[in-house]
Amino acid sequence: MKVDRRSFLRYAGQGVILLGGLSVMSSCGGVDRDQLLARDRKQRQIAGLTEQEMDILYLASLAPSGHNTQPWTVRIVEPQHWIIGSAKERWLPAVDPHNREVLLSLGAFLENLIIAAEVHGYLIDLQVIAKSSLDKEIVDIRLKKGQTRDFPLERIKTRRTVRNNFSDREITADDLKYITIHHKRPHLIEVMMPHGFYFPNNSPQGKQLREGTIEANRKQAFRDPAQEELANWIRWSNKDAEAQRNGLTPDSMEIGGAAGFYVRNFYDRKSVLSKSFRETTVDTVSKQVKTCGGWLVVTSQDSRIETLLEYGRMFEEMLLLIRERKIAIHPMTQMLEENPSRDALAKELGLAGEVQWILRIGYLNSYPDPVSLRMPLSRFVIT
Ligand SMILES: Cc1cc2nc3c(=O)[nH]c(=O)nc-3n(C[C@H](O)[C@H](O)[C@H](O)COP(=O)(O)O)c2cc1C
Repeated sequence: MKVDRRSFLRYAGQGVILLGGLSVMSSCGGVDRDQLLARDRKQRQIAGLTEQEMDILYLASLAPSGHNTQPWTVRIVEPQHWIIGSAKERWLPAVDPHNREVLLSLGAFLENLIIAAEVHGYLIDLQVIAKSSLDKEIVDIRLKKGQTRDFPLERIKTRRTVRNNFSDREITADDLKYITIHHKRPHLIEVMMPHGFYFPNNSPQGKQLREGTIEANRKQAFRDPAQEELANWIRWSNKDAEAQRNGLTPDSMEIGGAAGFYVRNFYDRKSVLSKSFRETTVDTVSKQVKTCGGWLVVTSQDSRIETLLEYGRMFEEMLLLIRERKIAIHPMTQMLEENPSRDALAKELGLAGEVQWILRIGYLNSYPDPVSLRMPLSRFVIT
């Protein structure tokens, strides 16, 4: 069935009600991540891992990743000695040819892993072993008995990316300080502290970021290899979502209600490649960038493996603090993926160094629960 934007919107306005349901469907009709995870918990048992260690890895896997590819792997070398790496089939060569974002995502995974291990009374010894960002094995870690850390794991479980319904209220200085100043940070890889810059949306730099983001999205949406790669990572149907448990689902892209029903049933890989879908993407982004408090741009001195892992860790550390302040952070990475904006950006904004994160930030009135899916441990643990 051919789906164009007009028929999609028309259908979305009809208030279609979904009847019946799969056992793992959420109230809005997509696959329910909590039910899947509860089912895993009953079934999971992995050679070489204790119940506690499986919990640590499950919590680590709740980290964010580009297109939700969940690029991480964990090889069990021996008890409490693991190697964290990435799986080539979950890289994004068309938008991330040097694995910059893979390493940022692995950093976020490591941050969750370290926190969860500490809560369970372990210290992590961590050593970067990769020589190239394209190496499959990246970090060697060992769990040692340590002190138990008091940290609310709910923060890891309830973190999510939100992209819509931001308020345009500016972020307060107190909130910015709270989320960006780093607290006790044990076992860090040695790198320079990052530089984060906040630009209100109505500042000249805010305008540059808005316009640059729209332009980069347009470029990317009409660059076939990038759009084909995106198409490969969208799980339109519940069946596909449940089988893959990674990638983007209608729920995680915040396509809810009748529109969600429609795309789950009638969209496929080809729909993503249509002109109308590409145009809708640019329209959606144009609307999103109009409403937010502002932008956080994070730069580093270099893009070494250690630096990128560290910047992934810091990103996650910040994300774990935002929900309690009703703040949403939406990475908008396209300016860093499409030429020439990546090279020009730091200069245009008057910043030194290399930009690692462009984050749209804003307050929410109500904070939705997480919905993006995660693979079971058996899909990323190598024994
Ligand atoms: C390195 C990186 C880049 C990302 N870039 C984007 C982006 O450009 N646009 C976007 O909407 N989300 C982006 N995200 C968010 C992911 O899509 C999101 O983390 C993933 O779908 C899982 O959903 P969750 O964060 O709700 O668990 C990015 C995340 C990471 C870690």
